Amino acid sequence: MFSSEALVDFCRVVAAARTPGEVMERLAEVSVDALGAPAAAVLQVGADRLSVVASRGLPARAMTWDTATDTIGAELSEELLAACGGDFTHAVQFPLVADGDLYGVLVLLGAGPITLADGASPLAVALVDLAAIAAGRAAAHDELARSYAELRSSRDVLARTERLRLLGQMSAGVSHDVKNLLNPIGLQLEVLRRRIDRGDQDAMRETVATLQQIVRHGVDVVERLRDFSRQDPEHEGEPVDLAATVSEAIELSRARVAQHPAIELRATVTPVQPVRARRSELATAVVNLIVNATEALGERGRISVTTGTDDGGAWVEVADDGPGMSPEIERRVFEPFFTTKLEGTGLGLAMIYAFVQRHGGHATLTTAPGRGTSIRLWFPGLARRVQSQ
Ligand SMILES: Nc1ncnc2c1ncn2[C@@H]1O[C@H](COP(=O)(O)OP(=O)(O)OP(=O)(O)O)[C@@H](O)[C@H]1O
Ligand SMILES: [Mg+2]
Repeated sequence: MFSSEALVDFCRVVAAARTPGEVMERLAEVSVDALGAPAAAVLQVGADRLSVVASRGLPARAMTWDTATDTIGAELSEELLAACGGDFTHAVQFPLVADGDLYGVLVLLGAGPITLADGASPLAVALVDLAAIAAGRAAAHDELARSYAELRSSRDVLARTERLRLLGQMSAGVSHDVKNLLNPIGLQLEVLRRRIDRGDQDAMRETVATLQQIVRHGVDVVERLRDFSRQDPEHEGEPVDLAATVSEAIELSRARVAQHPAIELRATVTPVQPVRARRSELATAVVNLIVNATEALGERGRISVTTGTDDGGAWVEVADDGPGMSPEIERRVFEPFFTTKLEGTGLGLAMIYAFVQRHGGHATLTTAPGRGTSIRLWFPGLARRVQSQ
């Protein structure tokens, strides 16, 4: 008598199986344990072969047996019995059909006529049908998992391509900047040579000062570039007192703003909760925003630096009542090397954007032509985990 528990167990396991192989294993097992067959082989239809994928009670040499897919019926049983080397004399086949396709065959083997346990014959047919459906479903699941893995790997390729594109953009910008530095250095050296020939000391000093200015700009470009490439994705950030860091940045910027007496720098820095960021980078970012605002204002105007708290984090905002940006400029300001200034590197805002993103925050730009510009940098509070980018 077959065990109904084994059958219920079979249904449960087969319904949850993730691969066709798992289903076939269980089918071979239940054929022997619950149906009472002396031995069982499950053959699966492959691209051009029919091969044993699971078995119970089969001699080792028959486990690796396979045959052409068009070997069916009595011929198949004979070949398999021969592969078993005389251990069995009788075979009964049950085709595994799912969605109208032949998926494989269950062959029960015995050393005499196969008599299944009482009432087991119709049950065997039902089990084989169930196994075929489950195997078809598991194969679809398998296929889905493979497609998903392919999708993930193409997403990785895409990310790599994007990084390469950025690198290309950066190299183009760097070579452009280096050329822009070398050309005037070459010209000024030529001027210097002539002035040396003439022995004009004052003129020589003037050229040297110009050369020093060009070199300072070169160093600035290189430093910005180094900061930009020093993006350490592992750095999760440290607890930073945003208000204190912003006050420090304002003090650092005062001398630069003071070159234009008609520009007012107004600070409304209220204590806010600590955020997760990098103190030195935060200070540099705020200084950069104030310098941008000063440059945009020209001779007169107002710069307001404000701090605040919302959405589980805290922010700093630098706003000016300068000329604002056209939609075309607004779209591109965070791009590396985008600048509208003769002496600009175009890395200031790109660097700020990368820094904020790295710490799970965001940068919000509000601007319109003639209506000033404000840039707000928001950082998550300490309770929030940084999202990996
Ligand atoms: N407050 C602002 N008002 C108007 N335009 C701005 C403002 N801040 C930035 N911009 C525009 O965005 C561009 C990019 O700024 P970013 O700080 O990235 O580079 P940059 O200031 O040009 O160069 P660098 O920072 O190396 O001096 C600027 O050239 C300018 O056109
Ligand atoms: Mg700038």
